[in-house]
Amino acid sequence: MHFSSYVAAALYGLPALAHAAPSPSSSSAASVSGGSESDHFKPYTIKAENITATLIPYGARLTSVLVPDRDGHLQDVVVGYDEPKEYLHDSETNRTFFGAVVGRYANRIKNGTFTIDDHTYHVPKNEKGGFNTLHGGKIGYDMRNWTVTAHTSSSVTFSLLDKGFQDFPGDVLTHATFSVSTKTTPDNPKGLPQLTSKLVSLALTEKTPIMLANHIYWNLNAFQNPTVLNDTTLQLPLSQRYVAADGIEVPTGTILDVSDTHKGALDFTSPKLIGKDVDKTTGVCGTSCTGYDTCFLVDRPSSSTAQNSLIPAVRLASRKTGISLEVATNQAALQIYDCDGQDGSIATKKSQAKRNKAYGGNAGAEYVNQYGCVVIETEDWIDGINHPQWGRRSYQVFGPDDGPAINWATYQFGTF
Ligand SMILES: *[C@@H]1O[C@H](CO)[C@@H](O)[C@H](O)[C@H]1NC(C)=O
Ligand SMILES: *[C@@H]1O[C@H](CO)[C@@H](O)[C@H](O)[C@H]1NC(C)=O
Ligand SMILES: *[C@@H]1O[C@H](CO)[C@@H](O)[C@H](O)[C@H]1NC(C)=O
Ligand SMILES: *[C@@H]1O[C@H](CO)[C@@H](O)[C@H](O)[C@H]1NC(C)=O
Ligand SMILES: *[C@@H]1O[C@H](CO)[C@@H](O)[C@H](O)[C@H]1NC(C)=O
Repeated sequence: MHFSSYVAAALYGLPALAHAAPSPSSSSAASVSGGSESDHFKPYTIKAENITATLIPYGARLTSVLVPDRDGHLQDVVVGYDEPKEYLHDSETNRTFFGAVVGRYANRIKNGTFTIDDHTYHVPKNEKGGFNTLHGGKIGYDMRNWTVTAHTSSSVTFSLLDKGFQDFPGDVLTHATFSVSTKTTPDNPKGLPQLTSKLVSLALTEKTPIMLANHIYWNLNAFQNPTVLNDTTLQLPLSQRYVAADGIEVPTGTILDVSDTHKGALDFTSPKLIGKDVDKTTGVCGTSCTGYDTCFLVDRPSSSTAQNSLIPAVRLASRKTGISLEVATNQAALQIYDCDGQDGSIATKKSQAKRNKAYGGNAGAEYVNQYGCVVIETEDWIDGINHPQWGRRSYQVFGPDDGPAINWATYQFGTF
């Protein structure tokens, strides 16, 4: 990891970003882009052989990833909208967080309350009738207009200066860099098409919780099936344990073994069809909800290298298209959500329906159905700021004397 170059870039970008935040309409911000409305939804396309990704500054959001299926046909495996402005509409209605970077603190904070050095903070509670904070509050990083600070043919960097938005303490500067590559490297020995995400955040002024995450909805069957239940396998090779949650999905503090509950339904240590045990999960995604919305721990083998190196933690594969995805992370946990909250009210992308027909099949699912996708959030143990007994606070609370918070992940695509 090369922290020093991020720190240098961070300090270099500061004056311009200060202008850009928080008012997006400030004309002086236009000079560093991200200033005017059209800039907020401008698609940035990054390419390498066999992988093309598109992102927009609104939410530092991944809007599509095209990779070949087993027949060599390009498929878009990311759920979202063709028209970038639809993401703004989504925020105002469903707030799915499709493809966004979420922050300043991903997932849920119990009662929107946490304590640092004997000072108790309250942040806006935007979920479950005001009982907890989800993904940073009422206006999270997913709704911010990030500034594009670097762009090449294969990478783009979005930057955000968060000056105490949503009542979190102090200023936080984040650079979110996305890149694609098909180069053979020690981490990518087969030279597979790979997307890399690096979310690098610095607490500039005060001690604060920082836990950013990518919030990408994947559908590796390219919507050729109505759901992912019967064609998509999931493997979480390092996740023997998970965080127990209450009826509104807030951690209770208890850590459980996947073999001990729900007849092993949460056991994905070996590859398993997502639908295989889904009928045994009632209550797992909240009171009377059936499906997965669970924080699995990523327990590194004791032989593995340093805590902050990448380790493969998720494998997803569609028998329908033959597309596989392996996610490697430097984080100690991951949230898996199988879209049990979708209800067939959001249309799928017309561009993908067109592709499905062009390749000789039918258009596929017209709507995002319940269980029609999988979200993978690599992050730390959720709500760890409120559970000091877990020993995670030093990975989640950062101050001006600390190094950067880094969420680093690779998404490697293959076929079988
Ligand atoms: C981001 O930009 C859009 C369009 O210009 C605007 O409607 C929205 O309010 C902006 N977001 C924030 C948090 O200012
Ligand atoms: C790109 O994908 C095509 C079609 O699947 C494949 O034949 C080719 O070998 C791939 N190229 C690389 C560099 O992997
Ligand atoms: C819950 O949050 C409210 C502010 O929204 C606060 O007044 C109350 O003290 C909090 N309760 C606990 C137990 O932290
Ligand atoms: C899909 O899987 C579900 C859950 O395992 C099962 O109830 C259903 O019959 C399957 N549907 C098809 C078309 O195979
Ligand atoms: C999206 O919002 C509409 C309008 O409120 C609602 O009818 C629909 O059920 C929502 N869909 C999802 C997936 O939340």
